[in-house]
Amino acid sequence: MNHFQYKNDVLYCEEVSVSDIAAQVGTPFYLYSSATLTRHFQAFDGAFSHPHITCFATKSCSNIAVLNLFAKLGGGADIVSGGELFRALKAGIEPGKIVYSGVGKTEDEIRYALESGILMLNVESHQELEALQNVAAGLGVKAPVSFRVNPDVDPKTHAYISTGLAKNKFGIPIQDALQSYMAAQKMDNITIVGVSCHIGSQLIEVSPFVESLHKVKIFVSRLQESGIDISYLDLGGGVGICYNDETPPLPSEYAQALEEELGDLQCTMVLEPGRVIVGNAGILVTRVLYTKQGGKKFVIVDAGMNDLARPSLYDAFHAIKPIRRNTEAVEVADVVGPICETGDFLSRGKEVPLCEQGDLLAVMSAGAYGFSMSSNYNSRPRVPEVLVDGDGFHVIRKRETYENLIAGEVIPK
Ligand code: LLP
Repeated sequence: MNHFQYKNDVLYCEEVSVSDIAAQVGTPFYLYSSATLTRHFQAFDGAFSHPHITCFATKSCSNIAVLNLFAKLGGGADIVSGGELFRALKAGIEPGKIVYSGVGKTEDEIRYALESGILMLNVESHQELEALQNVAAGLGVKAPVSFRVNPDVDPKTHAYISTGLAKNKFGIPIQDALQSYMAAQKMDNITIVGVSCHIGSQLIEVSPFVESLHKVKIFVSRLQESGIDISYLDLGGGVGICYNDETPPLPSEYAQALEEELGDLQCTMVLEPGRVIVGNAGILVTRVLYTKQGGKKFVIVDAGMNDLARPSLYDAFHAIKPIRRNTEAVEVADVVGPICETGDFLSRGKEVPLCEQGDLLAVMSAGAYGFSMSSNYNSRPRVPEVLVDGDGFHVIRKRETYENLIAGEVIPK
């Protein structure tokens, strides 16, 4: 359930007409609903009865206003860079609720994380463990560590966003992980606190999550037999959403399946949902610049692949809806942006609402990995982000200017 609904054939976000916002901020822009963000966070977080921390996956939607909303709801953050740590802290997320994953943490990033006192770093290689030991020794602290294990489970999702297969670069093969824990145990500046695992994104079945938890549980008992106890079990993110006709698990079904598999294991669960919370809480609003009939019908809009990369990058489907529903009529057309690449499309070869020059369109389900993956390609200023709250809205990130585009650039004398 989300708060983007038609009232008298005009699309509203909560109590605000989307075309009124467009008139004030111009197009294109990202639009999020506070009520939907809140509802999705609470539905997810509230689905677990086992002790847990919901660490929102910052990469999916990293605006500090959005992170702050989750902080107020008791959420933590899953981060993958120093930049995300900076955002999470600025947004008011408690350091003790921040977990840090990623295969390529630099020494500077590790130092920043240790100085900030985050909950744990999910280590993905032996060399990273050594770097962590060195940095922690330099600071005179103990680094809280969990190893990200790779359980070799097929998440049955797009190849680019599968992470838990043996051939993926992520984590330490689960069969080798005991050695890593033994090595860590001998290090002076490392404290073992957990085990972590993340197998992929946009999963629409529960079974791969259960299969991977099953393997992780067996591993945890091997750890216990070796005298290593853990306090946190980080199960990553990955729950899918409905973009088109998918039927992903409800948060309650996901939580129940995990808790059943977890049984009476004594630990705090860490969950890292991104898409399932923000995906359907955001849209991209764009205006039709021109239409033309070439070898096929093209609807040329003012948002492109630099604003929303998912269709070009993963051939992802995003429903396109009219902001004003003047007619039920549809046509098969490619909705394309202004970027000089044939791969620049928001929708290709699908039925879209029949539209004319000047019409406003909503690209649905764009809240996750939308703005956060946007770029300045073709020297296009990044678009604003707007947050609706009831009958009002806030611009939570301004539209970039041409001056912003060259900030930091220098012509050598
Ligand atoms: N935790 C870790 C360690 C991750 O790598 C990810 C996502 C998540 C949590 C959150 O996963 P989620 O709950 O959002 O599925 N750009 C792609 C998605 C990349 C996902 C990367 N990792 C897309 O647009 O589909």
